[in-house]
Amino acid sequence: MAPSRDSLTVLVLAAGLGKRMRSARIKILHEVAGRPMAVHVLEAARALRPGRIVTVVGHQSDAVRRALGSLSDEFVLQERQRGTGHAVLAAASLLRRATTLLILSGDVPALRLATLKALVASHRRRRADLTLVTTVVPDPTGYGRIVRGEAGRVLRIVEEGDASRDERRIHEINAGIYCARASALLPEIKRLKPTNSQGEYYLTDAVQRLVARGRKVHAVQVRDAEEVLGVNTRAELARAAQTLYARAAARLQASGVTFLDASRTWVDPRARIGRDSVLYPGVIVEGASALGTGCVVRPGCRLISVVAGRDVEFRDHCLVQESRLGDGASVGPFAHLRSGSVLEADVRVGNFVEVKKSRLGRGTKASHLSYLGDAEIGEGSNIGAGTITCNYDGEKKHPTRLGRGVFIGSDTQLVAPVSLGDGAYVAAGTTVTRDVPAGALAISRCEQKNLDGWVGRRHKRKGRVESQGA
Ligand code: UD1
Ligand code: CA
Repeated sequence: MAPSRDSLTVLVLAAGLGKRMRSARIKILHEVAGRPMAVHVLEAARALRPGRIVTVVGHQSDAVRRALGSLSDEFVLQERQRGTGHAVLAAASLLRRATTLLILSGDVPALRLATLKALVASHRRRRADLTLVTTVVPDPTGYGRIVRGEAGRVLRIVEEGDASRDERRIHEINAGIYCARASALLPEIKRLKPTNSQGEYYLTDAVQRLVARGRKVHAVQVRDAEEVLGVNTRAELARAAQTLYARAAARLQASGVTFLDASRTWVDPRARIGRDSVLYPGVIVEGASALGTGCVVRPGCRLISVVAGRDVEFRDHCLVQESRLGDGASVGPFAHLRSGSVLEADVRVGNFVEVKKSRLGRGTKASHLSYLGDAEIGEGSNIGAGTITCNYDGEKKHPTRLGRGVFIGSDTQLVAPVSLGDGAYVAAGTTVTRDVPAGALAISRCEQKNLDGWVGRRHKRKGRVESQGA
């Protein structure tokens, strides 16, 4: 769809390496709450339904393009990173037809849609030429300071390295988020000079230029600094993650979810959790997981893109990946459900059980020490302790199929491919290598022998050996 005349164009600056991260990886691809920080920025921008999103890339541009994918409509390469103003300049030819321009940095992952909406609305209402986002922080070190004049009017932004002693004492800082009339801003961007302590083309210098031309420059001050502060260091990366997790927890708490200690439970902002669910400390819920009502997740569990019904319990220290669990199912403690596992309602998977790409029918139990891989298990079956599906022959994986109400005795190997009919029984210690018909008992054991008096004879033998040796 062609952008309408006053539609919004979003420009995201994401070319800089981010030296202060001391990383081989470009800063904006570092993950916050499970996803690259720039993805959070782009998603907030997308939610505004702009006409177009253009992203300026430079360092590791292929990786950035891949990570952002279709969230950005276009990418433009800034070959050398010579400052934020230079980054805007790199995109100038793509912005020729832009009217309202929203400029964001890829390093502000906690940015909220509501703030962007308020910024754009204020900019349009006041018919401003440039509206910038500011915030007041206790420690403004490293940020551009907002210099205001008479009646509080914004005069310019001065970067830390170029600020006088008095200017450094200013606590109102530039968040690096701007809304601009493209026709006013872009000509000034073309006139920027790198005459500053860093020898860079500063986007922030455009403010002073616009003011000098009598253009309308306004500021929108955001109260929650955590939301707009850019991530430059690992410490700030951790803080941004805490902000996102705290926000997700607050939303879930408001909808009726209990966190025993919200500061020690991380739930992906995309996850959905039903009311009256309880999350213990040390729980991590990743991806777009969805838990129903009344679920309990005990300490130390990590759930990755899990879908669970009502009243599902995850006992202590489980790793559950890309699996589905029906109402009333329970797993753990110390269980591992790997990708593609399905536990139907009321299934119980217990201590030290690993399940991979398997379906366990309603009410089936595998309570202790088992490996179930590539298995289809009917409802109401009982998998004894130490049951192993031998699903791998060194080359290929093979399936194991169990009907309903199958009983597998402890310490059984099911050598796949193999099928067991409804109600089949397998005696403890059996190695099942052939199919078992419905209702049959499979037993494979060598017969037990008891050697009477063997222990006594052994002791005597040992005594003799020892006295000879002395
Ligand atoms: C910038 C602002 C500063 C503000 C701060 C807020 C300038 C000169 N300074 O400083 O006033 O307080 O953000 O976080 O704008 N980038 C490019 N190409 C470049 C340089 C940067 O794309 O050549 C991108 C970076 O990838 C990053 C963003 O622009 O996403 C901001 O750059 P950064 O170096 O972090 O700017 P700051 O020094 O933090
Ligand atoms: Ca920054």
